Amino acid sequence: MKKFILVSALLSLWSGQLFAQLSLFPTPTKQIVQRGEFLIGKDIRISGNGGYASRIAKDAKTTISTLSLADSKSSGQIEFLLKPEEKLPEEGYRLSVTTDKITVLASTERGLFYGKESLVQLVRFGKGTVRACRIEDAPRYKWRGFMLDESRHFFGKEKVKQYLDIMASLKLNIFHWHLTDEPGWRIEIKRYPKLTTTGSIGNWHDPEAPATFYTQEEIKEIVAYAAERHITIIPEFDMPGHATAVCRAYPEVSGGGEGKWKHFTFHPCKDETYEFISNILDEIVELFPSPYIHIGGDEVHYGNQSWFTDPEIQAFIKENNLVNETGLEHYFIRRATDIVASKGKKMIGWDEVIDAGLSPEKATIMWWRHDRKHQLVKALENGFEVIMTPRHPLYADFFQHAGHRVGRYWGGYNPIEDIYLFPDPVAHLMKNYEDQVLGMQFSLWTERVADTNRLDFMVFPRLVAVAESAWTAAKAKEYSVFMRKLPRFLEYLEELGIYYFNPFRPDARPEPTAPEKEDILQHG
Ligand code: ACM
Repeated sequence: MKKFILVSALLSLWSGQLFAQLSLFPTPTKQIVQRGEFLIGKDIRISGNGGYASRIAKDAKTTISTLSLADSKSSGQIEFLLKPEEKLPEEGYRLSVTTDKITVLASTERGLFYGKESLVQLVRFGKGTVRACRIEDAPRYKWRGFMLDESRHFFGKEKVKQYLDIMASLKLNIFHWHLTDEPGWRIEIKRYPKLTTTGSIGNWHDPEAPATFYTQEEIKEIVAYAAERHITIIPEFDMPGHATAVCRAYPEVSGGGEGKWKHFTFHPCKDETYEFISNILDEIVELFPSPYIHIGGDEVHYGNQSWFTDPEIQAFIKENNLVNETGLEHYFIRRATDIVASKGKKMIGWDEVIDAGLSPEKATIMWWRHDRKHQLVKALENGFEVIMTPRHPLYADFFQHAGHRVGRYWGGYNPIEDIYLFPDPVAHLMKNYEDQVLGMQFSLWTERVADTNRLDFMVFPRLVAVAESAWTAAKAKEYSVFMRKLPRFLEYLEELGIYYFNPFRPDARPEPTAPEKEDILQHG
């Protein structure tokens, strides 16, 4: 009997906890659900205490009026308060809902924006009825990112803006834009027009596809659109490898690859190469206010065959005491890093660059090789700031369900649960270095993603789990609770017309296919 009472008490506590969960994505770090509710009708009054708070109040009013709201009169009013003196955390906010008032408070514009996003979700998922509650929220990580590769396949401005909207709702704040690689160069550079007249032709499955790229005006528009949503865009200009599209357009700076790797790397010994890169970066830094520029640095060994045989390159290695071709690669990375630093920016590089002898003041490491955990440890021990995007579980081109057939599978795939549980499996490696870990990102390479249905299918709903792993304190995360809430977010994706994968009904929609091609270089 005693046992029975204990079990039922535990069960009711458990279901009470489930019941008490608000439908918020990501889950707030602290939430107390109270009795009663606040009704929002068409007559809702929303105000702010001036400046940005009044602007955000207006935005909230516009968004909320498009949602299905309660038929009855509103219970009271909503107020946005920007109060630096309250000294809430940088991106944090406090949201209080009583039966007659809703208050959103923050000490920064960013915090107030996230409070607004939470409120909009509560109204959306509650269909105009908001449970009385108190939320105190702030993120676990500063870097909550998503990377999109538009070199392999190009999706265009409207799709990118739609993703920025969803990212903002999920409190993701970094859009890493992989704009240059082998198949195509995707950003207008006025000084070097052939980058777009020649370099932008082709994509991963069709080398003759018409040129696709973003004009500088479009880049400015997207950067501004992201900034309004407190999202920073980090452009990536991959070098010295993965430079095929550039080197095709300007063969005078090409040097290293042979056969099918022709033009894969920049020529590492010519001053002209570094001048060329510097001139391109001059235009890139003008377009992107981000403090970081990503310069790649990955997988050079795929296409540097002639570095081993070219007499000029071999002589350069000797003259500069670079020891070997890897030393030359590191020389290139150091020089490119200094160019980025000379323009007032900090470089980000894939984890190969850890060994290049860089100063942690000038470089940040993106850890991607999940099977080389020592690279993560080495980066931390050497004082670098690190962003985590290990292939397992944070590469979005791995498939997400055992029944899927298109995409990568390497001794496993990336189901939503693995993403949700991240970074727990590697947390011990970061012990005592937590301050150097900026955060994490979901990275989508698009060799096998040629259309927007497949893009949506690979990104959603896994991006929702990424947001929670990046934002919510470990102690406030619970996978079963997250999955119980997730259908609400799927309904929202449905409204947006997103072709998401439904983990509750894996056969609900066909898995989109993608064109095949031989010789897949699939990252490492
Ligand atoms: C990478 O996947 N080559 C960074």
